Amino acid sequence: MSRRTERLPPDVSQGAGFRGRIYHGENEAALWALVEQEAASFDLIYIDPPFHSNQQFTAEFPVGNGSGVGSPTRSVLAYEDRWESREHYLRELEIRLALMRDLLKPTGSLVVHVNWKISPYVQVLLDRLFGDGERDRPGAPGFRAEIIWGFGGGGAPRRTYRKKHDNLLWYSRSDTWTFNPAYRPYSAKTQERGLTQVKGPSYELRSEGASLESWWTDAAVQKILSPTARENWKYPTQKPEALLERIIGVHSNPGDRVADFYAGSGGFGVVAARMGREWMLADESPSAVGVALRRCLETGAAIELFVPGEARENSEFVVWRHADVFRLAPRSPGSTLDDVEYWSLDPGPPDGGGAYNHVFRSYRRPGHRTLGLECRLRCGSAPRARVLDVEGSWWSVPVRSVELKAIESEPIREIGMNSQPSGCTGEG
Ligand SMILES: C[S@@+](CC[C@H](N)C(=O)[O-])C[C@H]1O[C@@H](n2cnc3c(N)ncnc32)[C@H](O)[C@@H]1O
Repeated sequence: MSRRTERLPPDVSQGAGFRGRIYHGENEAALWALVEQEAASFDLIYIDPPFHSNQQFTAEFPVGNGSGVGSPTRSVLAYEDRWESREHYLRELEIRLALMRDLLKPTGSLVVHVNWKISPYVQVLLDRLFGDGERDRPGAPGFRAEIIWGFGGGGAPRRTYRKKHDNLLWYSRSDTWTFNPAYRPYSAKTQERGLTQVKGPSYELRSEGASLESWWTDAAVQKILSPTARENWKYPTQKPEALLERIIGVHSNPGDRVADFYAGSGGFGVVAARMGREWMLADESPSAVGVALRRCLETGAAIELFVPGEARENSEFVVWRHADVFRLAPRSPGSTLDDVEYWSLDPGPPDGGGAYNHVFRSYRRPGHRTLGLECRLRCGSAPRARVLDVEGSWWSVPVRSVELKAIESEPIREIGMNSQPSGCTGEG
């Protein structure tokens, strides 16, 4: 197995909320770097890797300001789940699972989200890496439980059952682990009769509800996301926040370090930030990271974003500057900003690539797709402007000084989002 390392960037986070990191790239490189620098320091790792489906997943993202039915959309590659063979898939997964194990604290847990087709094979890998756990004896390191996440929807096959569940494989690194009991509402029948007839007159229903079984079918964690739900960022295979909230709540505590190395649309980071965990996400798909970044920013979290390499220059867009006013605009009359999902200004000098430190940012999100185009920024050095497009590509955009008249000829359309690091002050 070759050993590839890549340094993670220095902390450049600016937000006020719980600290998080987003790594854009192949997760094996990130895992090697983390094992070198931060081994045995994570309390919980959750992953929802490709399931060996031999499919390509495409997102249908909105473009421009509209988000309603009939608004323009663009098909964008989310990720490929194609492999030479099942063995190839398992080999690649095993390398990463071994690294994840080394990242866990002795009390840490790993939760692997797979489906019923690949689950048995992945369990064999995990048993080998972590131990047989409960299969051997209660309390032994390794396998703790297989949780069945049941959901509805779909057609009606004639010759078999509707297989509507995924499998969550929980492993602990040692014989000590975090488990905060979770509850579900009692069934209507139980509530009606109180249980007293079954368990005796002194038995009372608990106010928190019934202890959660290892099968989750309750309404709180259902899979189907409404097309108009605020949490629906249209990333294929996006998992509901309520499911992630349950996993994070049961298997970690506030202040713990948690990570998702197949992050997709970044829901795990969103929920971890809300629940007061220090979090890390990794994904190699540009469109996934484009969504995850914007989604996590919504929590107010302090985010350290790592994008390998430098953004290429894009001459379709320009940022006009007069004194402390900056405005993003298309370069030529025929072009639009419809493909722009996010833009930002970073203070100089250049940091040599990798670390992004956005002093001003404005971005589109579900239910609020209008982009703030102008900001006022008092900054001694010349800021760099970057654009993230709908496909998840980062572009560096030239900043050009102009006479005030050129900027004033158009009214300010929208106030952008803003944060204020040391050395620069600004307002959208
Ligand atoms: C099933 S999706 C995750 C969906 C996510 N749970 C969500 O709620 O949006 C799997 C993700 O793993 C990413 N991925 C696959 N192989 C990867 C690798 N080797 N390194 C980093 N990311 C990878 C894909 O780009 C994809 O976004």
